[in-house]
Amino acid sequence: MITNTSLEHKGNLFPSKIVSYEHEGDSISFYTDNNVILKVTVLRDSLLRFRFTTKGYFSNDFSYAIDKTQLHGYNFLQVSEDENYFEIRTSKVICKIKKADVRLSIYDLDNCLILQDELGFHWEESYEYGGNVVKMSKSSKDGECFYGLGDKATQMNLKGKRVENFATDQYAYQKDQEPLYKVVPFYIGLHNQKSYGVFFDNTFRTFFDFCQERRNVTSFWAEGGEMNYYFIYGPQMQDVVTTYTDLTGKPELPPLWVLGYHQCKWSYYPESKVKEITSKFRELKIPCDAIYLDIDYMDGFRCFTWNKEYFPDPKKMVSELAEDGFKTIVIIDPGIKIDKDYWVYKEALEKDYFCKRADGPYMKGKVWPGECNFPDYTNPVVREWWAGLFKELISDIGVKGVWNDMNEPAVMEVPNKTFPMDVRHVYDGNPCSHRKAHNIYGTQMARATYHGVKRFVYPKRPFVITRSAYSGAQRYTSSWTGDNVATWEHLWIANIQVQRMSISGMGFTGSDIGGFAEQPTGELYARWIQLGVFHPFCRTHSSGDHGNQEPWAFDEEVINITRKFVNLRYQLLPYLYTMFWQYIEEGIPMLKPLVYYDQDDTQTHYRNDEFIFGNQILVCPILEPNAVGRRMYIPRGEWYNFWTNELFSGGREIWIDTKFDEIPVFIKAGAIIPKYPVQQYVGELEFDELTLDVYFKKGKEKSVVYEDAQDGYDYKKGRYSFLSFRTIGKEKELIIQLHKEGKYDTPYSKYKINLIGLPFKVTEIEIDNEKIEFDKISFEQNNCLIIDKEFNELHIVGE
Ligand code: GLC
Repeated sequence: MITNTSLEHKGNLFPSKIVSYEHEGDSISFYTDNNVILKVTVLRDSLLRFRFTTKGYFSNDFSYAIDKTQLHGYNFLQVSEDENYFEIRTSKVICKIKKADVRLSIYDLDNCLILQDELGFHWEESYEYGGNVVKMSKSSKDGECFYGLGDKATQMNLKGKRVENFATDQYAYQKDQEPLYKVVPFYIGLHNQKSYGVFFDNTFRTFFDFCQERRNVTSFWAEGGEMNYYFIYGPQMQDVVTTYTDLTGKPELPPLWVLGYHQCKWSYYPESKVKEITSKFRELKIPCDAIYLDIDYMDGFRCFTWNKEYFPDPKKMVSELAEDGFKTIVIIDPGIKIDKDYWVYKEALEKDYFCKRADGPYMKGKVWPGECNFPDYTNPVVREWWAGLFKELISDIGVKGVWNDMNEPAVMEVPNKTFPMDVRHVYDGNPCSHRKAHNIYGTQMARATYHGVKRFVYPKRPFVITRSAYSGAQRYTSSWTGDNVATWEHLWIANIQVQRMSISGMGFTGSDIGGFAEQPTGELYARWIQLGVFHPFCRTHSSGDHGNQEPWAFDEEVINITRKFVNLRYQLLPYLYTMFWQYIEEGIPMLKPLVYYDQDDTQTHYRNDEFIFGNQILVCPILEPNAVGRRMYIPRGEWYNFWTNELFSGGREIWIDTKFDEIPVFIKAGAIIPKYPVQQYVGELEFDELTLDVYFKKGKEKSVVYEDAQDGYDYKKGRYSFLSFRTIGKEKELIIQLHKEGKYDTPYSKYKINLIGLPFKVTEIEIDNEKIEFDKISFEQNNCLIIDKEFNELHIVGE
């Protein structure tokens, strides 16, 4: 259903004038004489919540998305009024509310209008379901840009688009196809060099229209529930995204191995096949940390069972794989086979844990095992039961992570691909129909799975991956972009989706490398792995219907390219881990679209392809066959070509030559990039030194490196190592200062420092003010030196 939001629409109802207001603590409620109440809550100086009801009272305030531990508190709050307006003032924004019609305008303290209601809040009553279709429209300025919204397979800038949020199993989706698997009703607006965000926390089917229906109007609406949204003021996009991520929550650190390379296929079986795959990785020396078992490991697709013909002794297999450095991950779907002899089914039936139709029968639908019933994960008791089911898999068998799929929820052979809308859900004490619970179902499944895996894998850290997710799911799980296709267009889509997920608070995401459906050419696979190693989650997966998709399914050249790029990922593990740490600590997205990186440069506003990996590495994939290079935009500042060390000045679009075994990668001048040696899996090697690639820049730059025990929870007790470097480059001088924090003593004792781009010949080196003989630090004319890790300042002088 597409609901028109325009004024002419017949059924629209509007608030009438405000007749009174109440101010209590951080909330101000405005009452109209037609039963509308607007409740404004000031959560932070730059974070305001707007909640509307049309009934004269509010229903229970409950959200799955909001993180209970989010920061709140403001410095300043003042409410005043004049003849026509109420005004709410914080130390960051001014919100004006028109007395005549409850329309809002929000200004920053420079009096710049940031967001203004067009029609503002309006609604349509729903005869069939009760309640309202709730709508909001905002005026939009010429030149305004829009970003966010999760996994949308369309241009980064959403200006001119209408999108729909309804979690859907969209096999082999196409560019611009709507809706997809994820639901993140959060967007970022940018105009006049200022960013703001809107998070419409409503789990019903929602729509957002960014100036498509009407040129200067942005609107969003939901098929039910409340008009309940959060406004976040920037002015930097970083402020918007980190505030949104704090509001909806951050994950814990994954174990480091999860950031390695993962190999998957539908399906690897029997056991001998699994071992053939893992051995081949070791034989070809392509690093790999995780191997996946898709649905065929189960007995007739019954979750929590094993096909004993294919896998006679899963525990033995999992432990043998572990000896070779492979962590086993298994798939678990929500559909529980209706089978009176199946223990999971019997237990859920006895305990009454399955979802029911409005009139009482169980919700029944076909998935892989045939007819299934489905647990109601919106019931906390069911979640607890579900978590307990993982005991055998994790504690006894030794599985290290769980893959949740089909949790939109997907149902086969029915027109809407999911549950009928009358299905009932507990919704944590707020009983409702599937209309409201649909979009959150997958997240609640992943949440229950996460608690189970975490409980049984303790004292190690859990790993969960999900296909469907609503805002906030990042607290429990990583995700992948679903059933994509082995086409060049899908490589373009994957690049955008992962960047978009990153600025939508859910950055721990990757795509099925090479494409799930159909088979990639060797060239496409190579280009995909070259991008995929720069995605937070890095896994090859394919349906297997169209041939093999292991690196060796292609020719020697592609195998070598795969090895080269996966090796690079393993070298960059400390860099990746540091960017993950910045994500969990501060909500900083791991990938940064160029507009996020430099919103003041209007050249970035419509860019799709280039992105910043972490803080200091610029990546641009090759997205076409037979490419010998490409045009790309280099953001402002100075950047070194990673392959040639040639220095470029940014703020312009240029042509970059690339060979087949390269994609454009640039390092920000001044950066220090930490590297580990290549390992076949995390923890394979004990090593004695950390490599630091130092890229000279005239001026100052900061770099950080976070490390800890790579698994477990000691880091929460302060057992981590945090290095913060400052580089100061001058005409004939480079100073590297190091400040250390944390109680973790890294196993290595030395730094190997590569000085790149020095514009002078080194004549003297001082460590902590003491002149050092070159041979004592193995200094060579290629500007490489090895020093003890205990230093505060390195002073390099030249002529
Ligand atoms: C779905 C998943 C895919 C998986 C398949 C079989 O299509 O998206 O990743 O391999 O189901 O379980």
